[in-house]
Amino acid sequence: MRGSLLVMAVATVPAVIASLTMLRFSCSQLVVDRLDPYLVNPGMVPSPHLHQIVGGNGFNMTMDPNQHDLSDVATCTTCTPTEDFSNYWTAAMFFRARNGTYKRIATKGNPLGFSTAVGGQTVYYVKNGNVTAFKPGFRMTTGDPTFREVSQTSKYRQLTYTCLQTSTTRSGETKDFPKQPCKVGIMVNIRFPTCWDGVNLDSPDHQSHVAYPSGTFESGGECPASHPVRIPQVFYETVWDTVPFNDKSLWPEDGGQPFVWSFGDRTGFGTHGDYVFGWKGDALQRAMDANCNSDLFGDDLKCETLKRQTLKEANQCRKQRVVNEDVDGWLTELPVDMPVAD
Ligand SMILES: *[C@@H]1O[C@H](CO)[C@@H](O)[C@H](O)[C@H]1NC(C)=O
Ligand SMILES: *[C@@H]1O[C@H](CO)[C@@H](O)[C@H](O)[C@H]1NC(C)=O
Ligand SMILES: *[C@@H]1O[C@H](CO)[C@@H](O)[C@H](O)[C@H]1NC(C)=O
Repeated sequence: MRGSLLVMAVATVPAVIASLTMLRFSCSQLVVDRLDPYLVNPGMVPSPHLHQIVGGNGFNMTMDPNQHDLSDVATCTTCTPTEDFSNYWTAAMFFRARNGTYKRIATKGNPLGFSTAVGGQTVYYVKNGNVTAFKPGFRMTTGDPTFREVSQTSKYRQLTYTCLQTSTTRSGETKDFPKQPCKVGIMVNIRFPTCWDGVNLDSPDHQSHVAYPSGTFESGGECPASHPVRIPQVFYETVWDTVPFNDKSLWPEDGGQPFVWSFGDRTGFGTHGDYVFGWKGDALQRAMDANCNSDLFGDDLKCETLKRQTLKEANQCRKQRVVNEDVDGWLTELPVDMPVAD
């Protein structure tokens, strides 16, 4: 049973499964807030769109990129490895009802192993061959919130949606929002590039200091000469609890799908993720060197070298929302006055 699920989970890369190791763990929700401290909208408080954020509680509205080691600032983390004070975040997802009002969709604990996590996302650090862990202050984004056409999306690899019919559905990934109700929810997968220039902790667009390997990451493709350092593949799996919104009588009459990102995107092509490294000391490098390869289906982090907490403990780390606004009622506009193109 476990073996067959494992094959399903990595169905796109069956030939090279033996060389890939995946550190996989849960990070419960830390806060949902209209903050984006220094990535897409540095220093702009509030940021233009709402985010769901997980990881260490050092996340803040002003995080000085030049002197910020998150592991020095944070006092707790929503991730099960207690040495991981990184922050991981994505936009928030909304449902637009037929009457034109919006309701925020909650994230839920991954039904594969982490169902008791209070929202948040699953985080993977995948390696294929030896990798160099990130340095304090490292950050990056992937994806582009302005994209609305499928032709634009070839710039990025592996930013996908899976319509979960069961908790183990792993086929039929799309680059846009699923067009039909999904029995268990919508899983959004965001995989970051795996090659680094070896010098810059960030870049003006937060992306050009990293690059993709030739061929594919899964087949062990080489990093380009401009970005020679192999880094772990940071991979987010977020399960959005769209189940309360599966009644098609509430869906748009034109046959379209009702989901919309907090940045006003109804297509889904604008999906993107933000990452700020915040592991304490050499903890991530240790885990990578130890080839930590988590049991995909247990609720415990399988990695002896890492200190860990239970999901129940991880659920206790929370942060107060900074921007005081209603994000949970039925809203007439996305927070705040975000235009949504038809
Ligand atoms: C967040 O930033 C505010 C304002 O700069 C500061 O007062 C507060 O101590 C910071 N909190 C954390 C946890 O860093
Ligand atoms: C819009 O529809 C939703 C879902 O049926 C409902 O809960 C909400 O009260 C409606 N709002 C208005 C203003 O009619
Ligand atoms: C990875 O690193 C280990 C320890 O430094 C070394 O023994 C091993 O040969 C390396 N593997 C590859 C594929 O370079």
